[in-house]
Amino acid sequence: NVNKAIVIGSINMDIVAFVKEHPKVGETVFGREVKYFPGGKGSNQAVACKRLGCATLMIGRIGEDAFGEQLLAFQQQEGIDTEGVRRLQNVSTGTAFVTVSDNSENSIVVIPGANSVWEDEFPDNVSIEAGDLVLAQFEIPDAAIRNAFEKAKACGAKTLLNPAPIRPIEPDIHNLTDMLILNEHELAALSGLTVDVDSTATIFAAAEHLCNLGYRTVIVTLGAKGIKLIHHGNRHSITARPVMAIDTTGAGDTFIGGLAAGLLSGMDLLEATKLGNAAASISVTRQGAASSIPTIDEVHNILGT
Ligand code: RIB
Repeated sequence: NVNKAIVIGSINMDIVAFVKEHPKVGETVFGREVKYFPGGKGSNQAVACKRLGCATLMIGRIGEDAFGEQLLAFQQQEGIDTEGVRRLQNVSTGTAFVTVSDNSENSIVVIPGANSVWEDEFPDNVSIEAGDLVLAQFEIPDAAIRNAFEKAKACGAKTLLNPAPIRPIEPDIHNLTDMLILNEHELAALSGLTVDVDSTATIFAAAEHLCNLGYRTVIVTLGAKGIKLIHHGNRHSITARPVMAIDTTGAGDTFIGGLAAGLLSGMDLLEATKLGNAAASISVTRQGAASSIPTIDEVHNILGT
């Protein structure tokens, strides 16, 4: 009985405009090309979990439209168990309008569509086993996350929360979260403290603040500045692998999938963090979100493991 990652989250079609520079407010610019990529933080994390080595089940919502069909087919080709994905009538599949500039930075507008429609409880055809990992992000409503995390804890599974895009964390979700994974902006918003990516002290102070609120493990992803984490009161820093980034969309999701896959394969937290870090460093050298996620063999290759 192999433990699995269960990802509850968004499934989006990313419509990506590649531009020299992001347009300023009120400005019109020409882009170079437009591409369609499978995306959504939930789906990206599921793809990353699977490509990086663990059995993966997705719980999500799509519409009965062409994007939904393509995205479901994509997840199935990846070998993800889609038992928890429901197709809903009269609502569109989630879309994300992404702009990626020549310096690899992105800005994203998400239209949630089906991702915001969760009337039912946790799907009865999905079973959670002790030792599974349940991952959630903030592109779906709190009620769906709460149901899944309650079920996870009752079954002896661990919960990972990626509060992106940021909103306040409800007290019950806070109490059900084992591990918090967030970037510097989300860290600043949640802690209410100033976070400067060039100042280790400010990052650890803000992460410590979250630990004092009750999180035992807080992992901060800092892009090219690497990763800082606090686990049971101990601080760790992991440097990023220097690469030529062309598109950072989905890098955080790739990291989280690698972390989960590493933990499920029996690695300790630091080893699993290094696996996720290496996977993310490859993903930023390629276009798109899910399409940029490497396989476990590619990661072993660059790590020499
Ligand atoms: O984290 C990246 C993702 O955020 C994109 O794939 C986009 O769909 C948005 O959800």
